[in-house]
Amino acid sequence: MAELTRTTSRPQPVTQSLELNTGHTIPQIQLGVYLTEGQECHRAVRTALEVGYRGIDSAEWYCNEHQIGATLTEFLASSPLSRTDIFFTSKVQRNISYDDTRASIRQCIRLSQMGYVDLYMLHTPKGGREKRLECWRALEDAVESGEVRTIGVSNFGVEELRELLESKPRIGPAVNQLELHPFNTQSEVVQFCRDNNILVSAYSPFARGRRFDNPTIVELSEKYGCSGAQLLLRWSLQKGFVVLPKSVQPNRILSNVDVGWFEIGAEDMERLDGLDEGLTTASHQE
Ligand SMILES: NC(=O)c1ccc[n+]([C@@H]2O[C@H](COP(=O)([O-])OP(=O)(O)OC[C@H]3O[C@@H](n4cnc5c(N)ncnc54)[C@H](OP(=O)(O)O)[C@@H]3O)[C@@H](O)[C@H]2O)c1
Repeated sequence: MAELTRTTSRPQPVTQSLELNTGHTIPQIQLGVYLTEGQECHRAVRTALEVGYRGIDSAEWYCNEHQIGATLTEFLASSPLSRTDIFFTSKVQRNISYDDTRASIRQCIRLSQMGYVDLYMLHTPKGGREKRLECWRALEDAVESGEVRTIGVSNFGVEELRELLESKPRIGPAVNQLELHPFNTQSEVVQFCRDNNILVSAYSPFARGRRFDNPTIVELSEKYGCSGAQLLLRWSLQKGFVVLPKSVQPNRILSNVDVGWFEIGAEDMERLDGLDEGLTTASHQE
């Protein structure tokens, strides 16, 4: 049922978690921190934690694992929350070798001082079949050694997912992180993930701001009394995706999680699905 106006001026942050095929849970909205560094990174992560985010999506490539870890540690030291209330994600930059992947995981834990990583992913399918499977074995071993809780992939298409599943891994992927928004719905790979119990995580949920002026986005935002960003986030949530909005601006960090007060109706969800144009705004290495 679509609520057209807010019933309260208090924020209604979405803090719910989804269950992974590992039995662990994952916060459905997490802060994206690509291109976020230094004091700006510290402020963004701190603000996010204060307004209710419990997950941070980092990567070796972002060069901010140390900064995220320092901010998380500082936050936890003065909070009733503990490490297990926080969900920390990172990703290996390139599929070079088993040893290189294990070293990246150890480096992530050392830099972040988080003790373990909640979700560690192959950032890209690049590198070819053998390297992908070799690096996946490193992720499996990192789960068995307790360095990582859950493992996943990013930017994997149906073929690469099928190849991984057919290799009879000891541990299957729990998450596939993809560029997803109404302008790029990737329906084939999303369906494959659903059929194989792999949770889908939506990155670049705002298409990096390139379609806020789309007439359907403008019309539906007015109808629901929300911002274009909030509309796009609701679309992702209602699809059942984890979603990773990035912002360094405190008011946006708050409004991006404050999306628990309305729901997009079924017909409008279909209209949004109809905007698919296969728009890609990110490269595979972000
Ligand atoms: N696995 C991968 O290969 C991959 C690739 C890309 C991204 N990611 C992950 O997904 C996260 C998000 O994706 P993204 O950073 O590419 O793009 P995005 O979240 O779609 O868009 C970020 C842009 O939107 C702006 N923005 C944020 N909130 C807004 C609001 N409420 N109203 C208007 N503009 C707003 C931000 O500016 P301000 O910061 O100034 O607010 C920034 O310019 C990344 O940070 C990263 O964690 C993963």
